Formats: sequence, structure tokens, C-alpha cells
Amino acid sequence: MKNILVTGGAGFIGSNFVHFMLNKYPDYTIVNFDTLTYAGNLENLTAVEKDPRYRFVKGDICDAGQVTAALKEHAVDTIVHFAAESHVDRSITGPAVFVQTNVVGTQVLLDASRAHGIERFLHVSTDEVYGSLGATGYFTEETPLHPNSPYSASKASSDMLVLAYQHTFGFPGLVTRCSNNYGPYQFPEKLIPLMIANALNDRPLPVYGDGLNVRDWLYVEDHCSALDTVLHGGTLGEVYNIGGHNEWKNIDIVKLVLKEIGKPESLITFVKDRPGHDRRYAIDAARIKNDLGWVPAYQFESGIKRTVQWYLQNRPWWERIISGEYKNYYAAQYPVQH
Ligand code: NAD
Ligand code: TYD
Repeated sequence: MKNILVTGGAGFIGSNFVHFMLNKYPDYTIVNFDTLTYAGNLENLTAVEKDPRYRFVKGDICDAGQVTAALKEHAVDTIVHFAAESHVDRSITGPAVFVQTNVVGTQVLLDASRAHGIERFLHVSTDEVYGSLGATGYFTEETPLHPNSPYSASKASSDMLVLAYQHTFGFPGLVTRCSNNYGPYQFPEKLIPLMIANALNDRPLPVYGDGLNVRDWLYVEDHCSALDTVLHGGTLGEVYNIGGHNEWKNIDIVKLVLKEIGKPESLITFVKDRPGHDRRYAIDAARIKNDLGWVPAYQFESGIKRTVQWYLQNRPWWERIISGEYKNYYAAQYPVQH
């Protein structure tokens, strides 16, 4: 493994992964293949843009010609596939692009990778493919897939394509399913950065429904170290759940963010629930821990502190986002606040 193509490397987790890998492996090269949708931001990578081990290729995973050319030109032997439409709310208002990017894009990438003779293909997926839990229990890799949103349905489809290619063609695929991530460079449409940005601007904090939905949160660098572990040590054709055993009710997260920033709870506003809102996610990560020896490094309280600090120190990064085209999305998504 030497020449890795990272799809979606200009997004939240992808850009953290590019930094992580360049720091850890001095002799690897990373090609970041990204079409730069609203969620892709090359500012996430300014620190490495002059690094000779890093290349950016503006390309669309749905375009077989562009993918094949990048694989050849950079003699790629390994792919880590992040590129996707990733926001559940957007999948409810506009599902088509989710099917196009997440399903068709993955199939195009798989065919091009097969033809090229790729050595290892890591597909980055989500615990949301398992659906919703009640008050107890955990998702294991054997939990039946039961995706509830257009986003999770498109991710489940792409997971199944990777596993079917492995089964049918002996394709060297691996699948990971991680819980909710948080940390630097997360687009402020997602819960934690949205609440941080609104709190810093003294704007209402919109909590969906009763605020009692539960998510299992993992610091993004821990996700990156887990992906690195699976990439190097995982068994081909296997699925690995990734999570930090860290369940939080949404309302408690929002209160924690307010406390960290020193703003009053009166900013919290309960708004109309998300249609089909999954109640609870919780990951059993025994396989990656027991078989591959992975352990997360960050406690939630310290991870949240680091994240709030990052958004405080990088105000221009998210202020440019919330003053641009994202403004129209926000006005449509949260109409009562306008
Ligand atoms: P993101 O929305 O921040 O970034 C997605 C990136 O993909 C962007 O840079 C975008 O420009 C790029 N992209 C979109 N369509 C493309 C296309 N057709 N061709 C090339 N590039 C394209 O997403 P994220 O939160 O970093 O998530 C990355 C991956 O991790 C996704 O596959 C997501 O399903 C998965 N995941 C995310 C989380 C989470 O909490 N964010 C948790 C588990 C799994
Ligand atoms: P989100 O960050 O969109 O991740 P996902 O839906 O993929 O888990 O949302 C996390 C949780 O926060 C989810 O239960 C929905 C809730 N939420 C709000 O209450 N208000 C908001 O403005 C957003 C974006 C999310």
C-alpha cells in the first residue's frame, strides 16, 4: 500500500483522514478525488496543499472516465471511499442526488477499481443503515439492515454493492459502519457545529421534536484511526462497526455546548421533528476492538472542548459558509426562525 486515492477528501471526515494519514505515514502518497459539492472545501487542506505527497484531483465519482484517468495517472493501489451526500435532512427534501452519488457513484467507482486492479478498497459507511433502536440493545455487524431515510437507504445500497462485488468477483472490498462523528471541519448543517455556530451568534438552537433522540458520538480522529486499522489489518469481505460507546440525548449535547460556550439555555428552541426521525443509535464495536485491537483515544468531554475551541479559533472558516449559499438552505430548513 503506497498510493491511496481518497474520495471526498475535501469533506469533513475525508479531510481529517488526509491529515491523519500524511502525519502517520511519511512514504504514502494521497490523491484527494473530490468534485467539491457544497460540502467540499479545499480550505480544510491548506496545511498540506504544498506537500509533494498530496495531490488534489477535481473529479466526480459518477464519471467513469475521470475516475479511471486518476487511478492510472497516480498509479493508485488503494481506495478509501468517503465521497457521498451525507446529510439526512437534505435527503428528505431531495433524495435524487443521494441515489446518484451514493449508489451510482459507488458502482462506477467499483467498476473502475476492478478494471484497474485495485489492491484494497475501504468503503466508509454508517450505523444508520441498521435503522433505529429502542431503549436497549446495540447494532452488531449481524443486525439486519433496515435503513429509514433516503440517506441511509442509499448508504445501505452502496454497502451491499461493495459486498456483492467481493462475493461475486473476489473484489478486495471492506466496509466500515461508524456512529456519528464530531470535530474540526464539520459542515455547520450537522447538530454539533450548527449548535456551536448558533450559540456563538446568539441565535436560537433548533432542537427537533422532544430532543430525546440518542446518538453515539465519536471524535473524528478516532474514526480516522479506526479506518487506518481496518485498512491495514481488516479481513477482505468483512464489515466492521466503529463506535466509542458514548450515547447522548440530543438535548443534553445542546446543553453541554451552551455550557462550554457560556451561553444561556433560553437559546434552545424546540422545532418540528424530522420526518421518520430515528430514535436511537448505539454501536457494538467488539469486532474491531477484539480482532484488530482498535481503541478510541478521546473522551467525549475533552473532544467537545477541543471542538468548541476549534470553531472559536476558526470563525472565518464557518462564517464564510453560513453567509454564503448555505443561508438559503438554512432559511428553508428552519422557517420559524425567519
Ligand atoms: P461531507 O458531506 O462532509 O463530505 C462529503 C465529500 O464528498 C465532500 O467533500 C463532497 O464534495 C464530496 N463529494 C460529494 N459528491 C461527490 C462526487 N460525486 N464525486 C466526488 N466527490 C463527491 O461528509 P462526511 O460527514 O465527511 O462523511 C464522509 C463519509 O462518511 C460519507 O460516506 C458518510 O456517509 C460517512 N459517515 C459519516 C458520518 C458522520 O457523522 N458525518 C458517520 C458515519 C459515516
Ligand atoms: P445530524 O447531525 O443531522 O446527524 P444524523 O441525523 O445523521 O444522526 O443530527 C444528529 C441528531 O440531532 C439527530 O437526532 C437530529 C438532531 N438535530 C436537531 O435536533 N436539530 C438540528 O438542527 C439538527 C441538524 C439535528
